[in-house]
Amino acid sequence: MRQANSPMKNFYITTPIYYVNDRPHIGHSYTTIAADVHARYNRLQGAPVLFSAGTDEHGQKVALSAQAQGMEPQEFVDDVVSFFKQMWQRLHISYDRFIRTTDPNHMATVQQVFSQLRESDDIYLGEYEGWYCVPCETYLSEAELTDGCCPECGRQVEQVTEQAYFFRTSAYADRLIEHIETHPQFIQPKTRRNEVLSFIKEGLRDACVSRNRTEWDIPVPDDESQSIYVWFDALINYLSQVGYPDELDEFNKWWPPQIQLLGKDILTRFHATLWPAMLMALDLPIPEMLFAHGWWITDTGDKISKSKGNMLDPYEVSQELAEISGATTAVAVDSLRYFLLREVTFGLDGSFSWRTLLSRFNADLANDLGNLLNRTLPLVERYLNGVIPEPGPGAGELRDEIERARTQIEQEMAQSNFSAALTAIWKLLASANKFLDTRSPWALHRESKQVELEAVLYDVLDCIRVVAIMIEPFMPKVSDEIWQQLGLQSAQIEKYWEDCCALKLPSDISVAPGRPIFPRVDIKRAMDRLRADSEEQPEPAAADMIGIDEFEQVELCVGIIVAAHRIPGADKLLRLIVDVGESDTRQIVAGIAQQFNPRELLEVQVVVVANLEPATIHGVESHGMILAAGADEPEALVITDSKCPPGTIIR
Ligand code: MSP
Repeated sequence: MRQANSPMKNFYITTPIYYVNDRPHIGHSYTTIAADVHARYNRLQGAPVLFSAGTDEHGQKVALSAQAQGMEPQEFVDDVVSFFKQMWQRLHISYDRFIRTTDPNHMATVQQVFSQLRESDDIYLGEYEGWYCVPCETYLSEAELTDGCCPECGRQVEQVTEQAYFFRTSAYADRLIEHIETHPQFIQPKTRRNEVLSFIKEGLRDACVSRNRTEWDIPVPDDESQSIYVWFDALINYLSQVGYPDELDEFNKWWPPQIQLLGKDILTRFHATLWPAMLMALDLPIPEMLFAHGWWITDTGDKISKSKGNMLDPYEVSQELAEISGATTAVAVDSLRYFLLREVTFGLDGSFSWRTLLSRFNADLANDLGNLLNRTLPLVERYLNGVIPEPGPGAGELRDEIERARTQIEQEMAQSNFSAALTAIWKLLASANKFLDTRSPWALHRESKQVELEAVLYDVLDCIRVVAIMIEPFMPKVSDEIWQQLGLQSAQIEKYWEDCCALKLPSDISVAPGRPIFPRVDIKRAMDRLRADSEEQPEPAAADMIGIDEFEQVELCVGIIVAAHRIPGADKLLRLIVDVGESDTRQIVAGIAQQFNPRELLEVQVVVVANLEPATIHGVESHGMILAAGADEPEALVITDSKCPPGTIIR
């Protein structure tokens, strides 16, 4: 790593650790992409960076999800974690460390912190009486419920009365208020700070930090009856990630984090009160900034989440965009990264729509950025034999624009204002495009003004180089591609922020134009295609899914048809007598008379729904149902291997 002139401060940035009951979706990806942009931006500056990602693997919610899949929790979490890691790799996320709350080191740290706080009397044993929301893993008082449900997710809560350990959050209320008021940067954006302050000023209750012993969670040290509350466990990840409490050198190198990114859902209760209060109790410095961004919602205003059944898989969106546009998947991923951070001011909610994604793709990426490259490189090939010229006298006309953009980006990035930082880059692109038009290299060539021609093309190429550096945090693969097309890959592999100034482009290098990075999309055709796709293959809404528990309510078993008769007056029905084992036979009415001859059904081994309520069909009592394949009409019976005797359970 190149050393900056003055040593840069270490930069520790964290994302929330996500629950592994859920596959990663666009919401998780948003926070993680934003953190990636900060991490990459700081690396460009030459700062040592620790970008932490991870997964929250304990808690009732995860245990229940594992159970629903019929898996052991450990097996289940190992599976889901691999999806998170794969997604981060696909989205070009450059995390440095990945923490799992099931890591033995982390679990030991959580127990150590718990013991330490119990010894200092910051944690005490008491009695909890109130409500608990399992999906949010949150304790709630009666007054906090909305219509008897969780105020955050709107779902049913369960009543809890149990002995539990409490953390004295209330004892830190005054210090928290003082810290927030004297550190205006601590809670961002500003509007969130006021929300947090009023929450604390309304009066903090001590936080319940244990639950009755569960198999899956971290046990409370020296008390077998209790497990550590999943949020207490999860928040400590930020400490164990950097070696707390044993690896002091490592810890001191990184602590406290410069930025902790999270969604607004987990700011007030957890990151802005419980978390800093825990740090105060441990006598540790408070993170410099908590930035709570808004939610991605759908056109109908719903938060994108598993529970709403409207999850968007960012990689699937990218693949679709790649197919629609003809861009590579890596470029499409970067385009989605760009869209997410450009479209919405960080901190506010944003609604995802394909139309706005495609409009941005065409206007900003294909036109402004792509075209500048696609116009300039052929001019270099045509007029300069494809070789980057010397800057020569007169070059540097875009210098002021570049400097302005650079200063603006630095200011915006300090505020996590990604959209405004990107706007500054696009302003520079607009200036470069305009410069190319007004200085018309083609006219200079016609007039044989070679020196001027070289200066103009040098300036535009140099500006493209600068833009490739500026966009690197947002679109790392696009940046590489531009760099490559400029022919710089072999000349200068590493990019640094300090190189974002004019006239640093090396000369005498052959440009290497490739196919357009962002092929333009025909938006109308693309929207028709997307509409047709979604009509053809309606996504199963999660609300229509059943859990394993519901499935298990259906009792299936092997049955042998021992008799089959037509039912007078009902030309579709057959009356079957089915042997279901243990000398039990059932009479079942089946709508298969038009497809099957009663005689050919004798001795056929079928699948019987054994616990279906009896019904009278066409005057005949039916006790169960046999399974057949076919959407409207039965086309084939579902049969079983003859090795299974009648009555064998099917699951
Ligand atoms: N496990 C806790 C966090 C513990 S951190 C010590 C948790 N996990 S979560 O899986 O529910 O993730 C919540 C976070 O995911 C939000 O804070 C946000 O960062 C991100 N998002 C999830 N859905 C989102 C949207 N629809 N929109 C934007 N971000 C959202 O809470």
